[in-house]
Amino acid sequence: MIKKVLVVGAGQMGAGIAQVCAQAGLEVLLNDQKEEAVQKGLGSIDKLLSRSVEKGRITEEEKKATQNRLTTSTGLQDAGDCDLVIEAVVEKMEVKKTVFRELDGIVPQHAILATNTSSLAITEIAAVTKRPDQVIGMHFMNPVPVMKLVEIIRGLQTSDETFQAIEDLTQRLGKVPVSAKDFPGFVSNRILMPMINEAIFAVYEGVATVEDIDTSMKLGMNHPMGPLTLADFIGLDTCLYIMEVLHEGFADSKYRPCPLLKQYVQAGWLGKKSGRGFYNYD
Ligand code: CAA
Ligand code: NAD
Repeated sequence: MIKKVLVVGAGQMGAGIAQVCAQAGLEVLLNDQKEEAVQKGLGSIDKLLSRSVEKGRITEEEKKATQNRLTTSTGLQDAGDCDLVIEAVVEKMEVKKTVFRELDGIVPQHAILATNTSSLAITEIAAVTKRPDQVIGMHFMNPVPVMKLVEIIRGLQTSDETFQAIEDLTQRLGKVPVSAKDFPGFVSNRILMPMINEAIFAVYEGVATVEDIDTSMKLGMNHPMGPLTLADFIGLDTCLYIMEVLHEGFADSKYRPCPLLKQYVQAGWLGKKSGRGFYNYD
């Protein structure tokens, strides 16, 4: 039975994951290497819970009880009593491997190590631990408190018990699980990211304005956000890293990241989180 969860990385995904876990009654330790990120994460959770109180979805007492189940840290040493880790740090294989190697030596033997990676190989992350059968992909969608889907990805060595525990937990969180194999980008980002990359190529080639590209997809295809707004929302760094994983993993030029996407990331224009991407956020 999973009772205590460590969430590593308190960015937009980690904060959302911590919130839904605490709302479902789990004890949550929210960790980030930066204290500033932990505080920002707690602030966003407070704001969203307050909105739920205002809307009558939860009571003030339920909000407080949720917050009381949340503790924070900037080091991994306090993780000795957790049953599950959900890692949500930057989408870079080397960073994830370092985190998993360290966690493997700290968390109890029975603990499951899950990663919220958008595209990276679960099998490769699992191989740096001594418990590859207890490593799995648990891919939430952004914004986590709103989006219903969780993509569950088994690595080559993931056990049936680990899969079952994560599928059960997904349902306990009020989410809908789907299962995908350990291929680059799994299902969701293999389909979504090439569309976003193509929209960026359309800007790069001057086919239409940013606004008109987004309007085409919003009003023409009934997408809730245009692809460039969505790219800014996801983070242009994350979009680029996912395209690089698809490009390298399939060795197919159809996944070539658009040079404009690379340039924006080089400039530090990462979308909403940095204040500038295809749009300005002041
Ligand atoms: N965090 C938490 N809640 C949010 C939010 C956020 N960032 N943005 C909006 N919401 C909530 C609002 O509070 C509101 O809730 P209530 O009114 O019920 O309190 C509800 O969502 C609807 O919001 P709005 O009416 O303001 O706006 P909307 O109708 O346009 O919906 C949206 C917002 C749900 C984000 C919608 O625009 C949407 O579905 N966009 C597409 C999201 C998407 O595609 N996500 C997947 C990204 S890809 C991914 O996650 C995988 C990956 O690996 C990259
Ligand atoms: P983000 O940039 O908002 O947050 C990442 C956080 O991780 C930062 O606060 C950073 O300080 C922290 N961090 C980095 N290295 C760390 C370490 N070694 N230990 C502890 N904390 C560390 O990124 P995000 O958008 O939340 O994405 C996180 C993960 O979730 C990525 O793997 C991404 O691909 C995946 N993901 C993102 C989205 C999305 O829409 N943004 C959706 C689904 C999955």
